[in-house]
Amino acid sequence: MAKILIAYYSRRGENYVNGSIRNLALGNTEIMASKIKALLPDADMFRIDTLRQYSPSYMTCIEEAKQELRNQARPEMKEKLDGIDHYDTIILGYPNWWGTMPMVCYTFLESYDFSGKRIIPFCTNEGSGMGSSERFIKKLCPNATVLNGISIHGAEVQTADNEARKIAELAQ
Ligand SMILES: Cc1cc2nc3c(=O)[nH]c(=O)nc-3n(C[C@H](O)[C@H](O)[C@H](O)COP(=O)(O)O)c2cc1C
Repeated sequence: MAKILIAYYSRRGENYVNGSIRNLALGNTEIMASKIKALLPDADMFRIDTLRQYSPSYMTCIEEAKQELRNQARPEMKEKLDGIDHYDTIILGYPNWWGTMPMVCYTFLESYDFSGKRIIPFCTNEGSGMGSSERFIKKLCPNATVLNGISIHGAEVQTADNEARKIAELAQ
């Protein structure tokens, strides 16, 4: 059976949900990653995080993220994986930030050699779908097989069991 890694970035705190700002105790992508893990108990989980935390304020965070995208920043990761050699399949989850992945996901993808690996992206968002994230994953990991991403409406993650099942099935 394929050795699977579920790697995800998710931000707790204020976020934009169905037109208003709400405080999320758990991030949407984090909830989705847990659902997938429940279906793939043998998979390893890795939380991609930034050394420097973003503001818990939504309005400040969107400005911080916009600046990072503009600067093509590569925020430092808080923790690193020992390596990804023993994984065949990487499920990569992230929120849509300004039409793409948070820049720390770029840092993550540039930190390891994904040649010959299968990457299954999923993205929680408030309407922009995968944005251009899949294109960037392919560009950063030219020798990986990047499957079509699965988009989940952030406000509906709690009931996104079909999407979780689909991702788990693709990974096996
Ligand atoms: C900095 C920032 C930028 C965002 N940009 C977009 C966007 O361009 N399109 C979109 O549909 N949602 C956008 N969102 C909403 C998030 O993608 C959505 O709420 C997601 O489910 C949050 O996941 P998380 O709780 O795991 O961080 C943005 C949220 C933040 C904080």
